[in-house]
Amino acid sequence: MRVLSATAILVGALAAVGVADNALPGHAESVAQAAVQPGLQRIPRVGIQSRKGDGGEAGIKKPSLWTVFDEGLGAAKYIDLSHTIEPGMPVWRGFGNSTFLPATNKLTGKAFTYAEDLFEATAYRLTTDQLGTQLDAPAHFNPHAAASDEIPATYALRKLVVIDISDKVAANASYGLTVADILEWEAKHGRIPQRAVVFVRSDWSRTWPFVDTDVFPQVLLQAVQFLHLQRGILFHGHEPLDADMTPEFDSERWILTHGFAQAEGVANLHLVPPTGCLLSTGFPKFRGGTGNYVRFVAVCEPSWPHGVQPGAVPEAPMPEYAQPLVWDNQRGYRARD
Ligand SMILES: *[C@@H]1O[C@H](CO)[C@@H](O)[C@H](O)[C@H]1NC(C)=O
Ligand SMILES: *[C@@H]1O[C@H](CO)[C@@H](O)[C@H](O)[C@H]1NC(C)=O
Repeated sequence: MRVLSATAILVGALAAVGVADNALPGHAESVAQAAVQPGLQRIPRVGIQSRKGDGGEAGIKKPSLWTVFDEGLGAAKYIDLSHTIEPGMPVWRGFGNSTFLPATNKLTGKAFTYAEDLFEATAYRLTTDQLGTQLDAPAHFNPHAAASDEIPATYALRKLVVIDISDKVAANASYGLTVADILEWEAKHGRIPQRAVVFVRSDWSRTWPFVDTDVFPQVLLQAVQFLHLQRGILFHGHEPLDADMTPEFDSERWILTHGFAQAEGVANLHLVPPTGCLLSTGFPKFRGGTGNYVRFVAVCEPSWPHGVQPGAVPEAPMPEYAQPLVWDNQRGYRARD
């Protein structure tokens, strides 16, 4: 009876924690084996209840954040908000074009090839760290402020608010977000949460790379001051490559000289609702860097019509393509056609 009850308790624990119903064949069995303590019977697969989840945590109390993933983030819709970085992409008028090159073996001086070296690699000659979708570090305007490698890791995940001014921009290409626009948004959707990220949708980027970098939608100084000082946001972001058209970068200069960051070149905001999503921010750590090439991904409710759910596309392994990547001198990057 005592031995039996020990097994029963373990089976009960497994059932309570759950084993993935989407696990690979044999996965549930290996989970059960892994959970068996010395001296206890191996637990048969039969009778192990399955439910949604990773299942790899059998026999231990499930960490609360893994529950958050299984019951929320794991079924959410993921939407890419970053432009692809490529040569010839739009940049601020003072920056040059960037160049991609096949990386060369310094021992032979020849480019690595799949055929001869088993792998290829790429050398990027990027003219600026203010390129594409970016997260400006305050060091961009202030040498005493945080550089790329000094931005806290806590920037990785936040509540995301999207304020849509695209109708006003349609009537005036240089329209700027005002405090009145923010208050109008709040009257409809509620107060902007503290420490949230606020992205300003203008639809400027929807014709990317064919965009006007001289006349563009703005985020006026009073608006960014209101967002930071009255609402305590983490950072704001906009679609164009500058916050405003003033000759001395009024909005950007105020933001970056007051210890705040800002996002530029944000894409796909027309696919994101005004509230309810999270923002995942992936940024590199260049020493003393002043800007960050960044991958922003909105993580939205499972019922949201746009975006991709984890597992809905082949992720691991990722699929193969019929056309191989081939270096294209004309275009200056590896392409598949
Ligand atoms: C930079 O790239 C753009 C877009 O491809 C091109 O029109 C322009 O001629 C390039 N400028 C230089 C200096 O290469
Ligand atoms: C467009 O908006 C900008 C920024 O608010 C403003 O300075 C400009 O006067 C507006 N243009 C027109 C034609 O209303």
